[in-house]
Amino acid sequence: MNANEYMQATERNLVHTYNRFPVTLDRGEGVYLYDTEGKKYLDFAAGIAVSGLGYGNQELNTVLKEQIDKLMHSSNLYYNTACGKAAAALKRITRMDRVFFTNSGTEAIEGALKAARKYAWKKKTGRFQYIAMQDSFHGRSMGALSVTEHEAYRIPFEPLIPGVGFAQFNHLDSVKKLVTDKTCAIILEPLQGEGGINMATQEFMEGIRKICDEEGILMICDEIQCGMARTGSMFACQSYGVKPDIIVMAKAIGSGVPVGAFAMTESVAEYSLEPGDHGTTYGGNPLVCAAVAKTVEIFEKEDIKDHVNEMGAYLAEKLDELVNDYDMVLERRGTGLIQGLRLNRPVGELIKEALKEGLLIISARSDVIRLVPPLVIEKEHVDEMIDKLKKALKGIL
Ligand SMILES: Cc1ncc(COP(=O)(O)O)c(C=O)c1O
Repeated sequence: MNANEYMQATERNLVHTYNRFPVTLDRGEGVYLYDTEGKKYLDFAAGIAVSGLGYGNQELNTVLKEQIDKLMHSSNLYYNTACGKAAAALKRITRMDRVFFTNSGTEAIEGALKAARKYAWKKKTGRFQYIAMQDSFHGRSMGALSVTEHEAYRIPFEPLIPGVGFAQFNHLDSVKKLVTDKTCAIILEPLQGEGGINMATQEFMEGIRKICDEEGILMICDEIQCGMARTGSMFACQSYGVKPDIIVMAKAIGSGVPVGAFAMTESVAEYSLEPGDHGTTYGGNPLVCAAVAKTVEIFEKEDIKDHVNEMGAYLAEKLDELVNDYDMVLERRGTGLIQGLRLNRPVGELIKEALKEGLLIISARSDVIRLVPPLVIEKEHVDEMIDKLKKALKGIL
């Protein structure tokens, strides 16, 4: 089949829920992807912040191939050889005590929301409401959508879960105004990805923790996109010295094998989900757990977060030069290897131009380009990206 036939087969046979770019990706190597015509792309999207280790990591792939030959799935009716090890690895890096495996980020959000409700129910507090943030994104299932603010995602599916209030991100007073004796959890991304690369301030993170402590509310950090070293800390909340009650993760924890998880402290776990409360057939199966355990091992062994700090600083320097040199580039946002540029116009055309130059980048809201490359990029890749981005910027002048 040629590229057109692959595209037609997709358009003809799938529900039309995605507007795809006219590229059929075939294989990856390091930080590059190749389409079916052999064209090479520098990847600054990482499959939406998933492929932290890039493509073709042989240490990871060998473990996955061995696990496929041994056992891919067994269900949660039995123990398996990989699940406990993967959970221990996630406990270590999240500094939490108990882990639940899901199959995606959205499902992990659902589980975390349920865990908070169960905690309130078991403690007989009568609390059931949530506070989320404006510009948040937590997924598109009914629960996750209920705490996602973007109207375009929500409106066709209303009514959603009642009792969710949206506070202004980085404005503690607007959070305080929404707190009632019915609030069971506050959920936020320490760095909002889809919402435009917005970083929480130190004051906001500490303030949310304080409100939660004073009011008996659980703090849930959604680290699905900003976790796994992307900000230069293993989890973004750790860079603020703030420990939430529940951390939600997915994307890079499985290096492309579909997996999510939420992790909680022992004091939450003690009053939260019990057998029968929550479950999933695939969750924590041997294949995904082999991926998680190996991914964490490589991240720790190769000190990926240190590398992200070094590359992030270099990327910031180069992006700041673009802000200086181009009138249409208004602002740099973010940190580590989750950074963005806000333009004075919608970024759709720029992304298409970049694609022509062999550069994959994505948007965050309509006017921000989001740069979330594999975490293993080197300075030469940043230079190559800047070079291609300049050509793309010229293309939309
Ligand atoms: C912060 C955040 N939460 C939740 C999700 C949903 O995760 P998934 O697409 O794995 O279901 C995403 C996906 O982009 C995300 O960025």
